[in-house]
Amino acid sequence: MVIAIDGPAGAGKSTVARALAAELGYTYLDSGAMYRAVGLLALRRPDVEPQELARGARIELIAHQGALAGAGAAAAVMLDGEDVSRAIRTPEVSEAASRVAALHGVRAALVERQRALLARGDWVAEGRDIGTVVAPNAELKIYLDAAPAERARRRAAEIGADEASVLAEQTLRDERDLSRDASPLRRAEGAMVLDTTGLDVAEVVARIAALVR
Ligand code: DC
Repeated sequence: MVIAIDGPAGAGKSTVARALAAELGYTYLDSGAMYRAVGLLALRRPDVEPQELARGARIELIAHQGALAGAGAAAAVMLDGEDVSRAIRTPEVSEAASRVAALHGVRAALVERQRALLARGDWVAEGRDIGTVVAPNAELKIYLDAAPAERARRRAAEIGADEASVLAEQTLRDERDLSRDASPLRRAEGAMVLDTTGLDVAEVVARIAALVR
C-alpha cells in the first residue's frame, strides 16, 4: 500500500506524512530529503555534474524505531555515511535542492531509487511528484495545500527564521517547482485536495487515516 502526499513547501506534508505513517504503522518516505542531499552535495562538489552526484551518492533515510517514531521524530538522513540531517535543512541547501530538482538527470536517478523502495511494504511517501510520476498507481493520493502566508509562517517557526524572508524565498521556489519542465508540481489525477489553512495536524491526519481505512 502506498499513500502519496504531494503539495508545495509548508503545506504540512512532512508533519502530516510522519504522523500518518506512525498511526498506520507504515514507513515514511521523505523524497525531498533526497533532493536536499543531492543539493548539499552539489554545493560541496561544484566540479561534478549534479546528475552524476545523484547517481553516485549513497543516500540512506533511517527511520527512527520504537517510541520515537510515534512522536513524529524526523528520520536521520545519511549521505555517503555522514549524518546530514541538519545540514540539509539550511536555506542555502533549500535553494540548491530546488535547483538540482529541476534537472531531468537528477530526477531520473532519484525516482528510480524511490520506486525501488516503494515496491515492497506499506508507505506514506511525500514530495512533489509522488502521485504523478513516482507512484501513479498509489492506492491513495493526497494533494496538501495551504495559503502562501500560512505556509511561510509555519516554515519560519520550524526553522527559526524571519517570516518575510521565508515568504520571499518560498515564492521563488514555488515558482520554480511549478514552472519547471521536469515533473512540475501539479495535482495528480485522482488526488484528493486538502487545504490545511487553519486546520491542525491531528485533524488532517484523522481525515486521511479515515480515507485509508
Ligand atoms: O519538500 P522539501 O522542501 O524538503 O523539498 C526540497 C526540494 O526538492 C524542493 O525544492 C522541491 C524538491 N522536490 C521535488 O522536486 N520532488 C520531490 N518529490 C520532493 C522534493
